[in-house]
Amino acid sequence: MRVDIVTLLPGIFEKVFDESVLGSAIRNGLIEIVLHNFREYGDGRHRTVDDTPFGGGPGMVLKTGPLISCLRDVRKAAAPAPVIGLTPQGVPFNQKVARQLAQFDRIILVCGRYEGFDERIVSEFDLQLSIGDYVLTGGEIAAMTIVDAVSRMIPGTVGRQESVEQDSFFAGLLDHPQYTRPATWEGKKVPTVLLEGNHAFIDDWRRKYSLLSTAVNRPDVFRVAEFTEKDRNLFQQLLKQNSETRP
Ligand code: ADE
Repeated sequence: MRVDIVTLLPGIFEKVFDESVLGSAIRNGLIEIVLHNFREYGDGRHRTVDDTPFGGGPGMVLKTGPLISCLRDVRKAAAPAPVIGLTPQGVPFNQKVARQLAQFDRIILVCGRYEGFDERIVSEFDLQLSIGDYVLTGGEIAAMTIVDAVSRMIPGTVGRQESVEQDSFFAGLLDHPQYTRPATWEGKKVPTVLLEGNHAFIDDWRRKYSLLSTAVNRPDVFRVAEFTEKDRNLFQQLLKQNSETRP
């Protein structure tokens, strides 16, 4: 998969894309990242890319000319690709969107800065994505987040693809709790069922605590999740357990 990133700060991506899982995916040719600095398309001697907003108000707005010229060149450079603008006004990015983006051979991510894009730039986007309900100083950290989450969906990037399939949100629920050695730490014990090796019991325990974690931490996700008859039984067991242990 090829990801083109249009940004004013190409330098800040280097370390992130050089190390860890993402770094090896790039070195192994599973992902290609191409950075484009649209400052090079800026106006005049100072390569200006922004201007004050019409109608007044604080901050600066990204001008149409430089960014759109850069974007048009990037589009021409390789296979057709969706152009995705990163803004807090975008559609919420989540695991489902990550999985959908991973189906493309190429995507183009456009990072804003300052008070945002001139609206005529926005009409060049096929999609706008937001990584959360907060305002970052620019789209670069959002682009890193998206590249990281999408690349995990590409077979070969993460050691074992089953581990991706067991991720939080992959099956519409949060992940279950995990433990590793030692079995007792400062008096805190690992649940016995995980030590006993009965895989059917372990699967039930994990599903149960995945349901519980989602219900408690993300009622919004729980509300729209799809449940099997078995899930309903496991959840009933949890409720029963809770009412028996309540003082
Ligand atoms: N740029 C600034 N804030 C952002 C956000 N929350 N998501 C995506 N891009 C952004």
